[in-house]
Amino acid sequence: MIRACIFDLDGVIVDTAHYHFLAWQRLAQELGVPFSEEDNERLKGVSRMRSLEIILELGNLTLDMATKEELATKKNGWFVDYVNAIRPEEIFPGVKELIHQIKSRGLKVGLASSSKNAQRVIDLLQIESLFDAVVDGTMITHSKPHPEIFLLAAERLGLKPIECVVFEDAEAGVEAALAAGMRCVGVGSPEQLGNAHHIIPRTGQYTLEKLTQLEHLKP
Ligand code: BG6
Ligand code: MG
Repeated sequence: MIRACIFDLDGVIVDTAHYHFLAWQRLAQELGVPFSEEDNERLKGVSRMRSLEIILELGNLTLDMATKEELATKKNGWFVDYVNAIRPEEIFPGVKELIHQIKSRGLKVGLASSSKNAQRVIDLLQIESLFDAVVDGTMITHSKPHPEIFLLAAERLGLKPIECVVFEDAEAGVEAALAAGMRCVGVGSPEQLGNAHHIIPRTGQYTLEKLTQLEHLKP
């Protein structure tokens, strides 16, 4: 029995995934590392430091920890500059409606984002009241693809993992949801998210009918 939907934030509720990409691309350029949108798929869902390490691996660069911290902070500054301009209207079309429908069926709704900026984005979008539980990058030790964040979200919702469905746009996020023993709806392309139970191009296109069908698929 499905009792809750847990949403990722960046790329599922709002287009902040693109802002992460722009900020990483700028840093990669400064470092002289070629960095494409395809490379960026590997950064989605993982922590800030892990993202930087992937870029350094792409450029065959090795840096000490202090320099890495400095670069990660620089990227975050650019990201925050983009994010601070976000307005509530930027929530993806149909997402609020979907969440209200889910709630009207008596299900709970959670948010689980690896980002340490998640609370800022939630505040700017004015969507805090939509969620029964919010878990972000400041509350976990291991970021996606580790299941910790989704297990913590389920715990905060007072539910078992098997009762939760995750909405994710990142390959690492789909892996994390499956590792947590949850069903997963991938938001994006089947090439990236092929392991998810259902795949849709946009979050707002999901329906309660599909959620019912999901119940018949094994986590
Ligand atoms: C995830 C994004 O939500 O948060 C990643 O998908 C990002 O791209 C990660 O690196 C960490 O975000 P932040 O805001 O803590 O740097
Ligand atoms: Mg995401």
